[in-house]
Amino acid sequence: MRNMLVTGGCGFIGSNFVRYLLEESDFTGRIVNVDKLTYAGNPENLAGLEERFPGRYVFEQGDICDGPFIESVFSDHGIDCVCHFAAESHVDRSIVAPDAFIRTNIVGTFTLLEQARAHSGQVRLFHHISTDEVYGSLGREGAFTESTPYCPSSPYSASKASSDHLVRAYHTTYGLPVTLSNCSNNYGPYQFPEKLIPLMVLNACEGRPLPIYGDGRQVRDWLYVRDHCRAIWAIMKEGRRGATYNIGGNQEMKNLALVERICDILEEERPQGNGVPYRSLIRFVKDRPGHDLRYAMDFTRLRTELGWGPEESLDTGLRKTVRWYLEHSNWIHCVRSGEYRRWVSAQYG
Ligand code: NAD
Ligand code: DAU
Repeated sequence: MRNMLVTGGCGFIGSNFVRYLLEESDFTGRIVNVDKLTYAGNPENLAGLEERFPGRYVFEQGDICDGPFIESVFSDHGIDCVCHFAAESHVDRSIVAPDAFIRTNIVGTFTLLEQARAHSGQVRLFHHISTDEVYGSLGREGAFTESTPYCPSSPYSASKASSDHLVRAYHTTYGLPVTLSNCSNNYGPYQFPEKLIPLMVLNACEGRPLPIYGDGRQVRDWLYVRDHCRAIWAIMKEGRRGATYNIGGNQEMKNLALVERICDILEEERPQGNGVPYRSLIRFVKDRPGHDLRYAMDFTRLRTELGWGPEESLDTGLRKTVRWYLEHSNWIHCVRSGEYRRWVSAQYG
């Protein structure tokens, strides 16, 4: 792997992955980052990398749905592997306006696959990043395995499920060397503050309400983003071609409990000073339509085949993350100056 195309490298996980590859991993090649810079893409996430890693990081602004542009990226940069993050990623937005999700997540993935197929002589790996949400919702017990049937609930998860099927079909039909990973909820630095954890930190710091959808008993399994990046790189290097790997954190928590924990960390890190506890900002609001009750990942395959396991616990990772947001007010100002809106379930009408 000498010339890696990373799509969506200016987003949350993509930017953490690019940093991880250049700063921490044994990858010695060059990264070409293709990103359209939607509201969720922020070049500031990768500021300074060109200078620090001369000749090893290139940014190309563009749309993964644009076939001729993607063709030129493969040809001009001699792309020999792909790590595909680019997507519309926010479930609430997919409920209000699904069009962009169908376009980017399905047509965009198809466009990349077609160009990978057209350059099959040079492409040695196409790694596709996906989500636990393709499996649907769990009851109180059990966990998703790689053979759990797909049952997506939202337009977002349905579009991701569709892209997963396309990637597997290109392996089966055309022999494209692919790997896939389906991961649980990520958190950490550079996450756009529409997602639960950064939204709660920012709202709390401004004394704004902390909206909990429904009764707050939904369960998510949280994984620190650097652990996700470690897993992706392990799969790209050593994963079986054609295989899917589940990735999870083994850190399940109900949404309400998680928000209360964030409030408690903030009490220690930045007490309000007016005697009003952060927890008093919690408000129960209208539920997300089709809200999945619980996700949990069985990642035995990744652990046994590749020896991967999470290094960060939710306790340590959450505190690190809260501190990161408290210390990066310039970054917050920067992402908010774009087309940013905080999502509240009132938008569901
Ligand atoms: P994000 O929304 O933070 O970033 C998405 C990036 O893709 C942005 O930089 C955006 O500009 C870019 N992009 C969007 N449409 C594009 C297009 N048409 N062409 C080129 N670039 C485009 O997303 P994220 O949270 O970093 O998620 C990255 C990937 O990981 C997604 O595929 C998502 O489905 C998957 N995933 C996310 C999580 C999570 O918890 N965030 C968990 C599992 C899987
Ligand atoms: O599970 C992996 C998925 O995690 C990824 O595929 C998605 O790209 C990513 O956005 C994330 O989806 P979720 O819907 O789980 O994440 P979100 O942060 O939007 O919400 C987490 C939980 O918190 C969910 O149960 C809804 C709830 N929630 C969310 C927000 C934004 C609230 O109660 N209040 C809120 O304001």
